[in-house]
Amino acid sequence: MFENNKICQLLNIKYPIIQGGMAGISESQLVSAVSNAGGLGTIGSGLMPVSWLEEEIKKTRELTKNPFAINLFLQNPKIEELVKVIIKNRVEIVFTGGGNPLPLFPYFQAAGIKIIPVVPSPRLAKKMEENGADGVVVEGLEAGGHIGQNTTLCLIPQAKSLLKNILLIAAGGIYDGKTAAAAFLLGADGIQMGTRFLASIECKISESYKKKIIEATADDIDVVLRFTGHPLRVIKNQWSEEMKKLEERGAFPEEIKAEKIAGSLGGEDVEGIPLLSGLSAAGIKEIKNCQEIIAEIVKEIENSFKVI
Ligand SMILES: Cc1cc2nc3c(=O)[nH]c(=O)nc-3n(C[C@H](O)[C@H](O)[C@H](O)COP(=O)(O)O)c2cc1C
Repeated sequence: MFENNKICQLLNIKYPIIQGGMAGISESQLVSAVSNAGGLGTIGSGLMPVSWLEEEIKKTRELTKNPFAINLFLQNPKIEELVKVIIKNRVEIVFTGGGNPLPLFPYFQAAGIKIIPVVPSPRLAKKMEENGADGVVVEGLEAGGHIGQNTTLCLIPQAKSLLKNILLIAAGGIYDGKTAAAAFLLGADGIQMGTRFLASIECKISESYKKKIIEATADDIDVVLRFTGHPLRVIKNQWSEEMKKLEERGAFPEEIKAEKIAGSLGGEDVEGIPLLSGLSAAGIKEIKNCQEIIAEIVKEIENSFKVI
């Protein structure tokens, strides 16, 4: 089905299905499972230390021979050192999130590393193209974690109409073959999923967190921290209620500590930590392994196009 897909050609993968970087959560075990299943796994470096990233690159290479990527969270204070580690270790593909990636472009371009920023608007997608990005991910507000203001349904065709030379990957609310097929129909060249892979066997979050995802209904999912300028989509719990209270009493954004929000593997506690998750959680009913997830989606995309 995807023999002529341009994302597959650009990234040297079998299926144009990308596991979005998830800060501190998507590490070697998940990343290699996705890459071994024919998609593209992405290490989410988040606010993790430089040594963690170097170690995860090494471990991922031991677990897969296929390509994988790094997602750089641009708010990491050690960003320059992280860039050096990526270049030194010759990782071929970098995604960026959480800020302006343009100052990093020259370094990656000089090293021959493909750069694919994640952006929340058609305007920023165009800006990435003008500055020489190899592709761009537009992420709709259905997504888990930090979100923008546009929906995936509107972002894909609007970004597509502006882009002339680079490929478009869609993210936010995609979790099965039908939602993926819709993204392709709207003009996406590839898709990126986070929440679907959180509920995978290989993902290292706790079983309690996974259970929360597969049991969540649309009413259980909320957006908090709008007052900080960095809204965050989560499953409701004690932590999110506390954040709502902080907002109600007019807290300063500075009172929210970044390290509390950046994903972490945590323990079995599902009340005291932010349970980052997209709206797609309400449609995800089973924990499966990455091979099953990807194979099922590919098959369902094929069937969807047959129906059309
Ligand atoms: C737990 C979690 C952590 C995330 N961390 C990051 C991150 O560090 N950098 C980033 O660019 N995107 C991050 N994202 C966004 C994902 O990479 C992906 O684009 C998003 O999950 C897609 O939407 P979906 O959740 O509807 O599949 C995160 C998402 C989740 C659910």
